[in-house]
Amino acid sequence: MKKYGHFSKDGKEFIVTRPETPRPWFNYLFNDVYHALVSQTGGGYSYYKDPKYYRILRYDHITTDRPGRYLFLKDRGTGDVWSANWQPMRQELDRWECRHGLGYTRLTSVQHDVQTSITYLVTQKDPVELWHVTVKNLARRRRTLQVFPFVELVCGDIALETHYRNIIMLYNEASFDEKLQAIVAFKHPFKEIHKPGYGFFAASFEPKAYETRKESFYGRYGDVDTPVGITNGLTNKPVRGEDMVAVLQGEITLKAEEETEFVVVMGMTPDRNEIPRLLKSYRSVEAAKSELLAIRAYWQKQIDRLCVKTPDANFDTMVNLWGKYQLEAITHWRGTSHYHGAEGGLGFRDTAQDVEGLLSVNLTTAREKLEKLLFYQYNSGHAVSGFSDIEGTWENQGVTGVVKKADVAVWLPYSVVSYVKETGDTEFLKKVIPFHDGGSATVYEHILRAVRYLWSKRGEHGLPLIGHADWNDAYDAVGIKGKGESVWLAMALARACRQLESLARFLSDEKVAEEMREQYEELVKIVNTVGWDGNWYVAAYNDQGMKIGSDKNDEGKVPLNSQTWAILSEVVPADRLPKILEKIDHYLDTDYGPALFLPSYTSYNPGIGRVTAFAEGTKENAAVFSHACAFKVVADCFIKRGDKAYETYAKLLPMSSAKQDHEQYKVEPYVWAEYVIGPGSRYRFGEGAFTWNTGTTPWMFIAATEWILGVRREFGGLLVDPCLPHTWRHAWIRRPFRGAVYEITIENPKGLQSGVERLIVDGMEQEGTLIRPHGDGQVHQVEVLMGTPRKARRLEKVATSS
Ligand code: GLC
Repeated sequence: MKKYGHFSKDGKEFIVTRPETPRPWFNYLFNDVYHALVSQTGGGYSYYKDPKYYRILRYDHITTDRPGRYLFLKDRGTGDVWSANWQPMRQELDRWECRHGLGYTRLTSVQHDVQTSITYLVTQKDPVELWHVTVKNLARRRRTLQVFPFVELVCGDIALETHYRNIIMLYNEASFDEKLQAIVAFKHPFKEIHKPGYGFFAASFEPKAYETRKESFYGRYGDVDTPVGITNGLTNKPVRGEDMVAVLQGEITLKAEEETEFVVVMGMTPDRNEIPRLLKSYRSVEAAKSELLAIRAYWQKQIDRLCVKTPDANFDTMVNLWGKYQLEAITHWRGTSHYHGAEGGLGFRDTAQDVEGLLSVNLTTAREKLEKLLFYQYNSGHAVSGFSDIEGTWENQGVTGVVKKADVAVWLPYSVVSYVKETGDTEFLKKVIPFHDGGSATVYEHILRAVRYLWSKRGEHGLPLIGHADWNDAYDAVGIKGKGESVWLAMALARACRQLESLARFLSDEKVAEEMREQYEELVKIVNTVGWDGNWYVAAYNDQGMKIGSDKNDEGKVPLNSQTWAILSEVVPADRLPKILEKIDHYLDTDYGPALFLPSYTSYNPGIGRVTAFAEGTKENAAVFSHACAFKVVADCFIKRGDKAYETYAKLLPMSSAKQDHEQYKVEPYVWAEYVIGPGSRYRFGEGAFTWNTGTTPWMFIAATEWILGVRREFGGLLVDPCLPHTWRHAWIRRPFRGAVYEITIENPKGLQSGVERLIVDGMEQEGTLIRPHGDGQVHQVEVLMGTPRKARRLEKVATSS
């Protein structure tokens, strides 16, 4: 079993011990306007505000993990040249280590008796990243070293760059600005709407030379791993109309065992006049150090805000540290990852789910995103599939009424209801927010429109039309002719109706409550008539009226989401529940969690879509799709299966027992992955893929905190309803809620999976399991004893005495 790294003792750092990990292992460094994706060797790219439009660095692909933010060194005495990152030259180094931390990545290496350490970080507020570099001479002699920080620049729209490289490079210009002592690079604008950013690259040392021309640095037909510019010398020339790099040459002389430090400042701004201020603020070692301190302090605060302690240290690591970090990272920059090509913007449904995850840890960002989502809803109630602040919607602005991803609007009521449960702020429902295509309405009306829209767009069987997709983006041909319908979406809509019914009752709006109840009941009937296949629920009907996910199909049977959402939406009758659980637990389950369906599709079916053409076991074609597994964990808790919920949660953990062999699992063992290749694959079963950017992140966070530990927001307060594996005798959670903090200790001496016998708040035993909000800014101690609920005991007594 080969390992490439491990967590530090406190779990706050993941220490990569060998540079040649099976896939690049990334960290995401970010603030509100800037994002740097940094692999264990400094590979990856950065962008300002939008990953497509304002791309700063070139990154070819994860297969090479090049180029990146590199530091080359040259010993002037011996002529030795090496790259401190290991990449791109990939020489065997005497020592190498990379520590990914919350908000920074530190690479340390030793070669030719020189110890180099590079700490990458993104400043707290500005579109600037810093590399804090220390270089130590380990030899017993005085030496002069040349240092060459390097990046390869795009500075513009990466989609255009990829498709029309020969043309797009003609707009390039990069030069050394003497006054700023910095390389500034940009693409000349070629259309009114094209407003490219200015990339800049500077160091705290005085540059002895510089390079902007890629061809000179790489050499003819050369590449970044054979940088002839270092041996031949940098040319000190600007570049126009060709590929661009930014390389600065510094020179340091070090006595025996002496150490020196410098900083590299890099970033992008649409306003060239901003560059002097940005350089002035950050071009010093002190600035880099104080930024890092502030970043650490921010994350410590986030760690302490909501944290858990359970018998499973890995569970705690994901909830308290890495899962929470991942949640903030992807919420800021949804739709971007190191394996994505040229996408920009944020997916609507993904963002809606992120909002729910974020509510308990970063309410400000959650609220901001929620309002944005409401704005990106259409008048009709439907919503856009995705949007970018820079380039507008994925559908192109103004095109309304198209059923594209049919499900998007269904996620909006969930987020709004969760927001109200989290904050108790019913005033928010009265806030008037515009629709994307004109008009405006209160938030309450927005979410009602979402449900009414979906209710109105139903097909022959009474199920919602699926259009180009439901949750499953890859069912992209199921309903393109306008007839296909989604069983899963009917369930999701039923869940929205349930939630809106309870919201309306809470608001004493009986009329809406009745409307929602009637729709819900109708959907329950429809789903159980046309959605039931005998032993499980199917996924959809396509345009041709064929069932998808049925026993009658040879492939793609037992769609997991239709079973788990039958539970989550409360449409499954008691007598059908054991049947679907049997399928989830036995037919679909694997060592990594349940597959999305089985068997995988083996050839393209134009009546279903791209899912059928994906390699067997990959992505939506029957992978163990973590996001869907997270739904399953919550569904288990919904029906009080604590052991089952935890079993799947534990299998999903990136450091689960089945993923110990890094050579096989391949991807980062410290963040959630979108999927693990399923059993249908001929030779890649068990390989992880698409880490970081996945809806698994908010759902697993919610699953752990709100469902397994069971400390759950409700309209009236904080409900305590743990659903633990029977082996957990104790658990603890600190949860901020409506202006107070609750430190909740759960005792489970009888080894139960659910049930609360006693709830003691600040020493006082209370009736029921709902903590009424204190809102007093204080920390309250809550003791929970699991057992048979009092009410149930009373009923038992009555039953036995009569
Ligand atoms: C990806 C998408 C998500 C979608 C899922 C299934 O994770 O980001 O929106 O629901 O795939 O297709």
